Amino acid sequence: MQTTEKNATSDSQSFSLKDWQGGYRSQPQEFAYRIEDIEGQIPSDLEGTLFRNGPGLLDVNGYPVKHPFDGDGLINSIAFKDGRAFFRSRYIRTEGYVAEQKQGKPVFRGVFGTQKPGGVLANAFDLKLKNIANTHVVYWGDKLLALWEAAEPHRLDPETLETIGLDYLEGLIAPGGAFTAHPKFDPGHHDGQPRMVGFSVKSGVSSTITLHEFDVDGKPISSHSHTVPGFAFLHDFVITPNYAIFFQNPVTLNPLPYVMGFKGAAECIAFNEKAPTKIIVIPRNGEGEVQFIDTDSCFVFHHANAFEADGRIVIDSIRYGDFPSLKGGEDYLNVDFDQVPEGQLWRFTVDLAAGTADPVPLVSRSVEFPTLNPERVGLSHRYLFIGATDSPTGNAPLQAILKLDLETKQEQLWSAAPRGFIGEPVFVPRPQGQSEDEGWILVLVYNAERTCSDLVILDAQNLDAEPVARLKLSHHIPYGLHGSFVETYFGPA
Ligand code: CO
Repeated sequence: MQTTEKNATSDSQSFSLKDWQGGYRSQPQEFAYRIEDIEGQIPSDLEGTLFRNGPGLLDVNGYPVKHPFDGDGLINSIAFKDGRAFFRSRYIRTEGYVAEQKQGKPVFRGVFGTQKPGGVLANAFDLKLKNIANTHVVYWGDKLLALWEAAEPHRLDPETLETIGLDYLEGLIAPGGAFTAHPKFDPGHHDGQPRMVGFSVKSGVSSTITLHEFDVDGKPISSHSHTVPGFAFLHDFVITPNYAIFFQNPVTLNPLPYVMGFKGAAECIAFNEKAPTKIIVIPRNGEGEVQFIDTDSCFVFHHANAFEADGRIVIDSIRYGDFPSLKGGEDYLNVDFDQVPEGQLWRFTVDLAAGTADPVPLVSRSVEFPTLNPERVGLSHRYLFIGATDSPTGNAPLQAILKLDLETKQEQLWSAAPRGFIGEPVFVPRPQGQSEDEGWILVLVYNAERTCSDLVILDAQNLDAEPVARLKLSHHIPYGLHGSFVETYFGPA
């Protein structure tokens, strides 16, 4: 890996670029071991399995990826029981991973700009997607699924993490079809029965969104499709008991440089700051009109939550003023954070009768990866937990976890700076817990001091206290994307 001293630590920075770069080394090895090096104590009532997904290879046999989002999906699991923890990691045996490991070079082009060796001619007109399976991992209806939004899920064995094969969700998606990397878990808005809600999108001059709902056994309950005008780049969405809500960012796709072999598909997206962002409100029961509500031009990857209140829908989202674009030729390892748009938490209050949206900033600090108590999904929430920068101003890598109390407006911050870099936090409710914030935050931290990763357990009620436990892994895990906590222990007996 190439590193540089550019942007080395100054007084105003909470990190050194070189430390941060260390978390983007490939991790080709797979592991299975009991974690013995622990500071503090794992709570004895923390039982279940944390699954994480993210790019594990930042190169294929020395050929670097252009962007980490093109890295092969590596699943990490940590199973907790009786105050002990078992770690396991395994690559998803996607068609692309298997072929490239065998041939020792990139065989597929990456959506985020990674090219096959051989220049433009080797890449032109090769539009075959690599289903890289690196974005999220969820467990529903006894299936562990690795997700990537442009293709089919891969089903995995939750104990061994072995790849079982592509999964077509009981026939809801066809071979070559796609399923979101961000399904939502309705905790029981209807008859108290939990559901998984997900979608597929086909984007073009107009786009078709198909909304799917699954019962607790993974059986399809409903599926309905809606056509919306324009190109729709939809990474995430939110649900309430009655609605599924999407933000259609004002972006256009010019696929020519991708088709011609110059760029990855995602590098051909252009943001239009003069066009509004459209909030698309789809009734979950498939009946009634789809509503489109304009709001000021912005870009949203991730939403924190949404809920209904007096004919309004309240949506908390991470808002960017511009598409955090992959400017051509830029080396992601030497990114100048000051030049990258920062995400901030905003609240959009949508009045369905008036057809208006009222956006208000909630937190000025740069944040990403919001989460909350899973029992509050689609319902009003008091607390949010979000990955954050250490510094209250400016853009930087995520090094801290911010807890926001929306009732008192109080904030708590736990920071791993200067040498720790955090991934997405996951909230685990304490069994029989009474209040919404009673539970733990589990977060993987790349610890530049050890050049290894730690799994940190924080008390969500006292977030800024010392960690409850720090589990020191014997290796690093490259910066990941999303993951899930499952209340079943999937470790060895
Ligand atoms: Co995401």
